[in-house]
Amino acid sequence: MKIAVLGAGHVGPVLARLALAAGHEVAIAGSGDPARIEMITEFLAPGAVARTAADAVADAELVVLAIPWHRFPALDPGLFAGKVVVDAMNHWPPADAPLGTSEQVARRLVGADVVKTLNHVAYQDMEPAAGRAVGLAGDAPAAVKAVAEFLESTGFDPVPMGSLAAGRLLEPGSPLFGVAARRYEFETFLKEQS
Ligand SMILES: NC(=O)c1ccc[n+]([C@@H]2O[C@H](COP(=O)([O-])OP(=O)(O)OC[C@H]3O[C@@H](n4cnc5c(N)ncnc54)[C@H](OP(=O)(O)O)[C@@H]3O)[C@@H](O)[C@H]2O)c1
Repeated sequence: MKIAVLGAGHVGPVLARLALAAGHEVAIAGSGDPARIEMITEFLAPGAVARTAADAVADAELVVLAIPWHRFPALDPGLFAGKVVVDAMNHWPPADAPLGTSEQVARRLVGADVVKTLNHVAYQDMEPAAGRAVGLAGDAPAAVKAVAEFLESTGFDPVPMGSLAAGRLLEPGSPLFGVAARRYEFETFLKEQS
């Protein structure tokens, strides 16, 4: 797949590396001129191409949002129509927010299919991905399937959790947040919630 990773900080390059290792084509973007992240890209995700966010998204089949939540409003929603968008962002503190990040992302990125995942895994725990369970929440079944296949290609073990609203169970404060949980722990937790 053609993947655009928005964010070249802690999370973005790790996800870019995992995607490259799985054979995907990866563009990575920061907030500005791609020249600013060329060195980071070369060292941390060799094989990925540094592009502007707009160019990276335009060509992508799957877009990963790995930027700080407070920077999200700067993104042009028009770029994302028709795209599958993975929201890996967190807002802090969650108690102040009536909706999860991904529900807010979906409201703003009209026409995009948003899937929440990966936000609950610390970047230093993302590699190796093999066997690591990740929750997956979304309202569009085809997009959830596409993201699940992408995650599986990198080694993650995706556990569907239901709608985007159910994705709040992946946010800070959840027992699943920041924990190296296995599939059965996710499934046990989900049963307890239902
Ligand atoms: N750190 C973790 O372990 C972890 C784990 C899971 C999820 N998350 C979530 O993932 C997100 C990123 O976390 P992080 O730790 O990687 O942050 P970070 O190290 O601060 O990196 C943020 C990156 O986002 C880029 N960025 C900001 N605005 C952008 C825009 N409009 N378009 C494209 N790129 C933009 C920044 O580029 P510039 O330098 O150009 O501003 C920078 O490369 C956060 O929402 C965080 O809650 C973090």
